[in-house]
Amino acid sequence: MESKHITLLAVESSCDETAASVVRDGREVLSNVIASQIDLHTIYGGVVPEIASRKHIENVIPVIEQALAEAGMTIKDMDGICVTYGPGLVGALLVGVGAAKAISYAAGKPLIGVHHIEGHISANYICHKELEPPFLCLVASGGHSHLVMVNDYGEYDIIGRTRDDAAGEAFDKVARSIGLGYPGGPKIDAVSRQGNKNAIPFPRASVEGAPYDFSFSGVKSAVLNYINGCRMKGESYSQADIAASFQEAVVDVLVSHTMLAAENFGVKEVAMAGGVACNSALRAKMQEACDSRKYRLYYPEPVFCTDNAAMIGAAGYYEFIKGRQDGWDLNAVPGLKLANNVKLANSANSANCKKVVDKEA
Ligand code: KG4
Ligand code: ZN
Repeated sequence: MESKHITLLAVESSCDETAASVVRDGREVLSNVIASQIDLHTIYGGVVPEIASRKHIENVIPVIEQALAEAGMTIKDMDGICVTYGPGLVGALLVGVGAAKAISYAAGKPLIGVHHIEGHISANYICHKELEPPFLCLVASGGHSHLVMVNDYGEYDIIGRTRDDAAGEAFDKVARSIGLGYPGGPKIDAVSRQGNKNAIPFPRASVEGAPYDFSFSGVKSAVLNYINGCRMKGESYSQADIAASFQEAVVDVLVSHTMLAAENFGVKEVAMAGGVACNSALRAKMQEACDSRKYRLYYPEPVFCTDNAAMIGAAGYYEFIKGRQDGWDLNAVPGLKLANNVKLANSANSANCKKVVDKEA
């Protein structure tokens, strides 16, 4: 007799993507629908929370219907409904949480709230069927830069985090300041190919006494100072050289901190997750570093690195099989934490979707 599969519907709306997916047994993606709002927010240079929430309301039901249709299933075939309930923009999260609660109540299906970062990490399970904890994961996105020890499914220790900007946030702000526009990461990645990564020695910051923490606001300011200096001297500057040198500085720090953590924690399995894990220079340099130490490196394919609902279905599956289920009081938690680690005491993650328009840069 064929063993029973667990099929889950997953919903994600924490920032500017309305997404729904049907995932079987945590690792097999039957459908993955993503309605991106990037075009809408590009004119403002970043995500405008109120516009994001309104767009999620318009998109959420059609996206869920499409995900079920593409999987060739109906809500009756689902074993449960997973939804991102934090961290993220509160108004955006509320749309997904509200929709998931209504559907699960109406259909009489279990509801499972999922942590967005846990989703990013779990995207690796989709792309690497053999990957199992324990492993070290670098989570680098528009809102987060964390080094996470994945001890077991759903069991994490955050061993490092950013003290200021997230890596993707720095990419987005620098891109804006050199005239590349939003979203900055993919544009800097592309332009860097024409630039010299050693042209400008931008700083590689580390935090005293916290070797796994990150700080990216200094390199962002250094880029602005460099541009202002050139302008004041009436000198021209190369957009490609700035992009390539900035990218190299960020990638250097991400790779060296990850390698230090892997070494000190005795881990030989290293993973990456989040939008910045799409970066070609990061992938190449991390691969080189892992190869030379005989570590195994995992990262998801690009569509599962940036925000999507399949990763929420993957993370939700491991909660579901443990029997964890949420009640109708499940609410959006914009500053939701991943693990109770002392290092998080000063957490600044109430603004986890850092793609939000910021006048600073
Ligand atoms: O994971 P994600 O979709 O959203 C958050 O949870 O924040 O990540 C989006 C971030 C943006 O900051 C974007 O600029 C960055 O990931 N990103 C990249 C690349 N592709 C996306 N950064 C560097 N290089 C890329 N190729
Ligand atoms: Zn994300």
